Amino acid sequence: MEVVIVPDAAAGGELIAESMAQLLRRKPDALLGVATGSTPLPVYQALAARVRAGAVDTHRARIAQLDEYVGLPADHPESYRSVLRREVLEPLGIPMDAFTGPDGTADDVQAACEEYDRALAAAGGVDLQLLGIGTDGHIGFNEPCSSLASRTRIKTLTEQTRIDNARFFDGDIAQVPHHVITQGIGTILEARHLVLLATGEGKADAVAATVEGPVAAICPASALQLHPHATVVADEAAASKLKLADYFRNTYAHKPEWQGL
Ligand code: PGA
Repeated sequence: MEVVIVPDAAAGGELIAESMAQLLRRKPDALLGVATGSTPLPVYQALAARVRAGAVDTHRARIAQLDEYVGLPADHPESYRSVLRREVLEPLGIPMDAFTGPDGTADDVQAACEEYDRALAAAGGVDLQLLGIGTDGHIGFNEPCSSLASRTRIKTLTEQTRIDNARFFDGDIAQVPHHVITQGIGTILEARHLVLLATGEGKADAVAATVEGPVAAICPASALQLHPHATVVADEAAASKLKLADYFRNTYAHKPEWQGL
């Protein structure tokens, strides 16, 4: 996989936003897979700035969701559908009818998961999937020891992930759902381009395991090693445990600009 080390989160956001903008210029109706969490916010802000400046046209862009809580009403402010509406669709001027995501309120959750995988395929597949990474190496809500071939399905959150996410629920872990729907690792690997952004020292071990460790379910993000076009963008802090950091810096410094990410 390609590893790009950037000075800080804002630089990572600019780089990935430019890659998304190039994709949309090439393919105006591209299907962008987006993630929630704090890490991707600089990407969305940098892309929205390009939209406001008229540097990219998003009116035909389509958006796909990575994961969702089970049981939160769709209009709950912390359902990921609501979060993505606020943080991605509205700032980018993309209407809700260009959005596809799993139904976290379905009576038959398993059927909703299977339906979502079919919807992604029917939409032509995800062109670029943006990913964050958990401190434990999770991608989406694929916690450690998720099958590397998994499809979209219901998962039970680890206690640590619920604690991490309590900040979005007034700090009250009791309000954090126990269950989620997440694109499986096998589903994620079907996107044409995977872009994982990691920022901050807390992600350094997970980034090292993802890039330089064995492909192993204990670090779900290590499955990116199996993908023909995976890019890991890490700031200096998140890259600080990479043995090959200098090699990655040198390789990227000599990359022809026209290649993009
Ligand atoms: P974060 O979450 O961006 O808020 O750190 C990442 C993740 O859990 O995937």
